[in-house]
Amino acid sequence: MNSFDVIVIGAGAAGMMCAIEAGRRGRRVLLLDHAARPGEKIRISGGGRCNFTNIHAGPKNYLSANPHFCVSALKRFTPADFIARVEARAIAYHEKTLGQLFCDGSAKEIIAMLVDDCRAANVEMRLSTSVRQVEKTGEGFALSTNGGAFQCAALVIATGGKSIPKMGASDFAYRIARQFGLEIIEPRPALVPLTFTAGMIEESRILSGVSAEAIVSCNGASFREALLFTHRGLSGPSILQISSYWREGDELAINLAPGTDVFAALKTARQQNGKQAANTVLGRFLPKRLADWIAANDGAQGRLGDCNDARLKSLAAAVSDWRVKPAGSEGWRTAEVTLGGVATDGLSSKTMETKSVPGLYFIGEAVDVTGWLGGYNFQWAWASGWAAGQAV
Ligand code: FDA
Repeated sequence: MNSFDVIVIGAGAAGMMCAIEAGRRGRRVLLLDHAARPGEKIRISGGGRCNFTNIHAGPKNYLSANPHFCVSALKRFTPADFIARVEARAIAYHEKTLGQLFCDGSAKEIIAMLVDDCRAANVEMRLSTSVRQVEKTGEGFALSTNGGAFQCAALVIATGGKSIPKMGASDFAYRIARQFGLEIIEPRPALVPLTFTAGMIEESRILSGVSAEAIVSCNGASFREALLFTHRGLSGPSILQISSYWREGDELAINLAPGTDVFAALKTARQQNGKQAANTVLGRFLPKRLADWIAANDGAQGRLGDCNDARLKSLAAAVSDWRVKPAGSEGWRTAEVTLGGVATDGLSSKTMETKSVPGLYFIGEAVDVTGWLGGYNFQWAWASGWAAGQAV
């Protein structure tokens, strides 16, 4: 009995959702994964608490060569739909910030819910199973794996992107897409820390560990969230967000004191007490180490009374419009997601089925739809998995 209506490869967020939905519709479903446990990325997500959705999720929060592709799936399976499942299971959760919903307890509760739902929907799950070959047959697909041969009418590829190889990430989806003549939008590490040049690392060594709220802008996108100096460069939510828009050679514009007119503040301080040092005044709206570093770098170490307006303007710009050109990113090792993937032109936005190979579907992070940081990527995984699950 190695024949199934549906085989889903990849027991992550998207694959489990698709398998559950297909199983509930009475399909005989086999869910395969090469890992020993399902949902490993769910387990480590959100610092172990899984930021499972974002109540504001909409097409504007996603990057894709076709920004409209995600509209249909996101409309049909919404954050409210997933929240209803979490509540029915009595999983306690809270909004942390900016619409981001996290479990109060552990991400493992989300995995347990999905695994139980798979079981209830009679999904057969086979772990530690590597797929060696996929072939198209007259009636569907034939798979050869280390656990035997299987056949199915519909094949769903839910093997995610390339981020964090040590978590089991692979380029399997892209290989299958190429095998069947589908286009790939070049995968890039995204939601990833950015790195400095060796010289800049040396110069900014003293800042490692300092964090500040910042507005970070690049290529028309802007994010106001925390920024963190690391011993390799920049990280924190604002930097992870902008990394999806940044390309090699681009400069970031960073406002380290959002909401403060730094020039006006420096002028007022000079008027009130010209004996104060510039770094002391900057320290009122910046962490001390950062204030000292900026003042020293800008050559403004003396008394404010000795600084003319041009000097103060230059110092204010170093705070509010700091320009920095990252050397690169930390790459696949730490990237939370993959930008790019299977081109949406070849897929139905309603069902995720490929247009050229009936019965072959791609869902989740494998597809060229990438969310912002903050629960948007899981919402895409749930929504695309749900959409395919209604169709297979
Ligand atoms: P996912 O990667 O989850 O699953 C793919 C599955 O396929 C895996 O189980 C893998 O083992 C399997 N697989 C891969 N290759 C295979 C092969 N060749 N054969 C068989 N099986 C194979 N998002 C969010 O919205 N909120 C959050 O809090 C976080 N936090 C977060 C933290 C960290 C550290 C990371 C790395 C990522 C996040 N994300 C996130 C992103 C989120 O985890 C990601 O977008 C989804 O897990 C994507 O779901 P998929 O099901 O598409 O792939």
